Amino acid sequence: MNILIIGGGGREYGIAKKLREDERVEKLWALPGNGGMEELAECFPIKATDMEGVCGFAAEHPVDFAVVTPDDPLAMGMADRLRAMGIPCFGPSKAAARIEASKIFSKRLMEKYGIPTAKAAALDSLDAALRFVEENEPPMVVKADGLALGKGVFICRTRDEAEAACRELMEDRLFGESGSRVLIEEFLEGPEVSVLSFTDGRTIVPMVSSMDHKTAGEGGTGPNTGGMGVIAPNPFYTEAVAAECMERIFLPTIRAMELEGCPFSGCLYFGLMITKDGPKVIEYNCRFGDPEAQTVLPLMETSLLDAMLACEAGTLDGTPVAFSRRAVADVVLASGGYPGRYEKGKLITVPELDEGVCLVHAGTKRTEEGYVTAGGRVLNVVAVADTLPEAVEKAYANAERVTFDGVYMRRDIGRTALEIIARGDARCE
Ligand code: AMP
Ligand code: GLY
Repeated sequence: MNILIIGGGGREYGIAKKLREDERVEKLWALPGNGGMEELAECFPIKATDMEGVCGFAAEHPVDFAVVTPDDPLAMGMADRLRAMGIPCFGPSKAAARIEASKIFSKRLMEKYGIPTAKAAALDSLDAALRFVEENEPPMVVKADGLALGKGVFICRTRDEAEAACRELMEDRLFGESGSRVLIEEFLEGPEVSVLSFTDGRTIVPMVSSMDHKTAGEGGTGPNTGGMGVIAPNPFYTEAVAAECMERIFLPTIRAMELEGCPFSGCLYFGLMITKDGPKVIEYNCRFGDPEAQTVLPLMETSLLDAMLACEAGTLDGTPVAFSRRAVADVVLASGGYPGRYEKGKLITVPELDEGVCLVHAGTKRTEEGYVTAGGRVLNVVAVADTLPEAVEKAYANAERVTFDGVYMRRDIGRTALEIIARGDARCE
């Protein structure tokens, strides 16, 4: 089979690596891919958001199956366009991608179908938003309705902070049209869990749970990033929590999407918070997370290709999907300054890595001298081991050996999870 992957980060590297394990995969193309991905796929410099470029490429090549992973092309309707060309796809339709692309759409969906989430108000003018801030007690969370590179969420401890957030989004248009409407919601507390799932619109199969570390600084400080590291499984996601999520969140969500006339197929990502009142949805993503994908896929024991084909064919019920009970830690190596300004083109020294450790390329470029940095998140050091403490130790031992000028990593990936395991408060699945 010839497969076209649309995207070019660590997530797409992780997907390409997993697909390469399948003997049925012949050609693998990536648009645009990245420097390191050239080991796994033929990469062409066509942006994932270049609808005409991607569809033109697909028309000229014998593509049997396409995998669309980033949010923007899905929200633009790239999966619909490829399907209309007769190319089956892993990824939701434009209508289903609204579950991520519009926070107001997803909030209304959850309210209508009784799916547990934070109480919220949708505001479509700055005046209305400021009035809401005046009339409600902080803390509150201000969110841009549309896509904002994961940066459109402001946790506001005071009314002044909330007002400033509304002004940045709605007046200064920090994220353009994404801020034409905002959602202001109650502040929830509790540990966070990410659950990626395969779904064909009727059947849903969760993957191993994980814990992202979103802020640039240690201990949840500093600006939000796309994710500085992940561990899996997440010790807060006990079997009892998993069962409750399936019954109250996962199944109701895919049923709701079906009833709304936009069944979801592909990877549905649940961003959950385990509150004292039970698990609640913080956000949905219409795609694999990055770095969650490259963290959980190494634990997949069955064929990723089969699962993806089944999501598109509507045959997920009856398709074996299994994950190992081992543990993974993923430490992101970023360019100094990320998520703010950073320099590119720094030469990367890649040492020998231990068994069970994979270097996932995210923002790299291949040059005659070797790989150089080409993005904010440059590499992921992904270590698989029997237990989480071993995986974390192994990931850091190997991460220390990879060097480039200005390299930055958080030193506390997995720390909260390890404390929980050490205290015996929650058990892994
Ligand atoms: P999101 O992009 O919606 O996942 O939000 C980014 C981060 O903001 C989440 O991972 C949470 O840590 C935090 N967050 C979002 N919504 C809330 C909320 N209602 N209460 C507390 N924290 C939140
Ligand atoms: N790591 C969070 C995301 O992919 O949205």
